[in-house]
Amino acid sequence: MEPRLCHCFGFTPAELQKLALERGIATPAELTAAVQAGGGCGTCAPDLERLLEELWKDRKPVLRPLTPDLIVRDAIRPFLGRGAFELEFVDVDQASVRIRAVARPDACAEAAETLRVFVEKRLKEMYRPDAAVTFV
Ligand code: FES
Repeated sequence: MEPRLCHCFGFTPAELQKLALERGIATPAELTAAVQAGGGCGTCAPDLERLLEELWKDRKPVLRPLTPDLIVRDAIRPFLGRGAFELEFVDVDQASVRIRAVARPDACAEAAETLRVFVEKRLKEMYRPDAAVTFV
């Protein structure tokens, strides 16, 4: 197993490189905005800087906007780990984001509301302040 580069948020160098390439992320601040890597204790900041410098030394990044599907994939699902639900982005219409949430057998009744609050908060922070989530 590859060692983690950002221990606070659990990302390996390969995962961060893949994200940066896909999304055109060129700075540690953009990486933090996208997936929070580097946004905790900050001890990984020099390594993040080196990783991004190396990645973009021979090419030019074009930053892709954050969309709800990417936010769900990169900034919500990794934090759920072995939580009570599996999430899948369905679609978005303006501020209304529809997400399929499949409960694991051991999910308690309150877990769905906890999850909805967490997902909606993250989408309001990263997508738009009036984002609303519907589970389908
Ligand atoms: S190790 Fe990356 S923010 Fe703490």
